Amino acid sequence: MRRVYLDHNATTPLDPRVFEAMAPVLRDTFGNASSLHWFGQQARAALDQARADVAALLSATSAEIVFTAGGTEADNLALRGLAGAAREPRRKVLYSAAEHHAVMHTARALAEEGWPVEAVRVGEDGGLDLEDLRGKLDDHTAVVAVMLANNETGRIQPVAEVVRLARERGALVHCDAVQAAGKMPVDVRALDVDTLAISAHKMYGPKGVGALYVKRNTRMRTWVRGGSQERNRRAGTENVAGIVGLGRAAALSRAGLAEDGARVGALRDALEERLAREAGARRNGEDPRVPNTANLSFEGVDAESLLMALDLAGVAVSTGAACAAGAVEPSHVLRAMGLRPERVQGSLRFSLGRFTTADDVDHAAGLVVQAIERQRAAAPVRR
Ligand SMILES: Cc1ncc(COP(=O)(O)O)c(C=O)c1O
Repeated sequence: MRRVYLDHNATTPLDPRVFEAMAPVLRDTFGNASSLHWFGQQARAALDQARADVAALLSATSAEIVFTAGGTEADNLALRGLAGAAREPRRKVLYSAAEHHAVMHTARALAEEGWPVEAVRVGEDGGLDLEDLRGKLDDHTAVVAVMLANNETGRIQPVAEVVRLARERGALVHCDAVQAAGKMPVDVRALDVDTLAISAHKMYGPKGVGALYVKRNTRMRTWVRGGSQERNRRAGTENVAGIVGLGRAAALSRAGLAEDGARVGALRDALEERLAREAGARRNGEDPRVPNTANLSFEGVDAESLLMALDLAGVAVSTGAACAAGAVEPSHVLRAMGLRPERVQGSLRFSLGRFTTADDVDHAAGLVVQAIERQRAAAPVRR
């Protein structure tokens, strides 16, 4: 059966060029990067190159890059690290209501531990409500967490404005750029954030490896304790092959950014237009968005059943829903945007990628339209 993968925001396939970079490291470069002998120094050199490539993608310096075991760990380290190092009376943590669970659940855990924590609203267009942020920021705010691009809608948040408002109150800013890196330019100097998280497996690298940018001279509490790796920011023997994969993925993303973005954006727009025309799709989340993401609602359709039907037809997409403890939770992002429950329940996320072709999109769109027609015909009452 022909299969079309349109779920790149969940994870991306490993780019063969990333695999080519990782394979010899897995096979041969087994030294511990902390060892002084030749074997260790081979691993150290591989880490140095990867660090330089990640730094270049973000317009940072190598010394500002901390390798982690993925985006979630980078978000945890940033939030806990910045809040934990803030000087009294700065304790408040603010996060946007559309954050990924990696940030949201870390913030909620901090709340359970006694930190004052508040969510900042997002509007119906998916954008952060800057007025709400302004009202919640005060001289006790330690950290504001805001993502650069949303994983469900693709919406790009006004991070530079958030930073400006936070600075007026002396607060630090953490930015989750996991869904932005590789899809749009990410320049930590222009954004002026204090920390910024990325993850390799969202940009054609391996799973379980990511990085946290930490601006020079930032006070950050260490959470994973042990050896003095990563300049004492994150202990543990480095995942050399994974980090080399991240570095190669970063270099490839940087080189192909403009071209990939334009090509994928045109495919995404064509998909949205066709599904609006032929299946009455309504878009969730307005521009500015990253070019690969389309979050669409279909009236009278249950997205969960549609996803299953499409999977049987060979098309992989996603609903914003997360399955927790056996119960399907409707997307907190779409709910935070104030969408009606029926619209949330009828929403699907299509996320295209580097290897998606026009023919893939055409084929998938035809199957989506068919599946929707079938569902609507089977349950006309729900329309
Ligand atoms: C916005 C965002 N932040 C963080 C993460 C977590 O990254 P990782 O899967 O590398 O732990 C994800 C992954 O879905 C994400 O989309």
